[in-house]
Amino acid sequence: MSLILGIESSCDETAAAVVEDGFEVRSSIIASQIATHAPHGGVVPELAAREHLKALTPVVTCALQEAGTTLDRIDAVAVTQGPGLIPALLVGLNYAKGLAAGNGLPFIGVNHFMAHIYGAFLDGGAGKLRDPETYPLLALVVSGGHTSLVLVGADGTARQMGCTIDDAAGEALDKGAKLLGLPYPGGPSIQKAAAAGDPEKYDFPRPLTGAAGKALSPENLYNFSFSGIKTALLYHLNGNPLREEPQFVADTAASFQRAVVDCLVRKTLRACRDGGAKTIVVAGGVACNAELRRLMAEKCPRGVTLRIAQPRFCTDNAAMVGGIAWHSFRRKEFTPLNADSFARLPRIVRVPFI
Ligand code: KG4
Ligand code: ZN
Repeated sequence: MSLILGIESSCDETAAAVVEDGFEVRSSIIASQIATHAPHGGVVPELAAREHLKALTPVVTCALQEAGTTLDRIDAVAVTQGPGLIPALLVGLNYAKGLAAGNGLPFIGVNHFMAHIYGAFLDGGAGKLRDPETYPLLALVVSGGHTSLVLVGADGTARQMGCTIDDAAGEALDKGAKLLGLPYPGGPSIQKAAAAGDPEKYDFPRPLTGAAGKALSPENLYNFSFSGIKTALLYHLNGNPLREEPQFVADTAASFQRAVVDCLVRKTLRACRDGGAKTIVVAGGVACNAELRRLMAEKCPRGVTLRIAQPRFCTDNAAMVGGIAWHSFRRKEFTPLNADSFARLPRIVRVPFI
C-alpha cells in the first residue's frame, strides 16, 4: 500500500490530499481564496501566491490528520507543476520540494490538465482508465483559467487539439456575472440566476462555431473564443432600462450561459468526431455547471462514453494530484528537485496512467 500526499496551488485554491494507491481518497482538503479575490472580480496572481503561503501548512496538516496518518508514513510528495499562474504554482512547488527533500521522500511534479482528466476517474473509474477501449479519450478541461480540448491516445500521449484564443469559459462567466451585478465566482451565480430564466430569450453569439454561417479557418476548428459573447452582453446591458429587473436578469443569465455552454458542447463534439474519441471527459470548475452536464449528456454521440468528474473533483483539488502521481510513483518516475513550474500546456504530454 502506498500513500501519496498531493498538493495543489495552481490558481486560487490551496489544496492537499492523501490518496492511497491512486484511487482511494483518504482526505481532500481545500482552502478557497474566494473572499480575497471577490472584490477584484477575478483572481489576482500575487494575492493568490500570498494566500497559498499562509494556507499551505494548515491545509497539509489537516489533510494528514483527516487521513489518519503522519508524514513519516507518506511514500511520496506530489505537486501541481503547471499549467497555472506562475506565482501561485511556485509557492506550492517549492513547499512540496522542501517537504520531500526534508523528509527524504520521492518528489513528483504533476501536470494540472492531466490531473483534471484523472479526476473524472476517481469515482470508481480505475477499471475504465486501464481499459484500452476507453481511448482515444477527448477531454474538455474548462475552468476559470483554461478552456482546452485534449486528445489522449491509447499510446499514452496527450496532445492539445484546441484552446481558447482569448478568455477561458469560466473567466467569461465570471466577467459576465460582474456585468450583471451577480456575486463572484460568476459561474455558480449565473447558474443560479439562470434557473428562473429562458435560455432562448436573447440571442448571444456563438463565436468560432460556424453558427453564424461563417466558414471556420482550419487553425480555429477546435479553438474557442468567448470575448465576443462577453462584449455582446455588455451591449445588451448598456443603458437597458430593464437591467435591474429580476426576470430580465434571469433571462439574460440563462441566454448567456446557454451561449457559453453551446460553444463548449459544439466544439467538443466536433473534436470527438474528428479525433475518433471513444470517451469524452469533462473536467475543471465549469464542469460543475448543470446546463453543461445536461447538454453534454443529451448530445453525446452513440457509442461514446461520457465521464464528467464529480463536482468535488471538478474544481481544483489535490486528490487528483495525489491520485495521478501514484502511477508515476509505481514506475519510479520521479521529478528532479530543480524542476520548474510552467504556465502553458506543452504540445505533447505523456500521461502516466496508461
Ligand atoms: O477549476 P477551478 O476551481 O479553478 C480554476 O480556474 O482553475 O474553476 C473555477 C471556475 C470559475 O470561473 C467558476 O466561475 C467556475 O469554475 N464554476 C462554474 C460553476 N462552478 C464553478 N461555472 C459554471 N457553473 C458552475 N456551477
Ligand atoms: Zn484547474
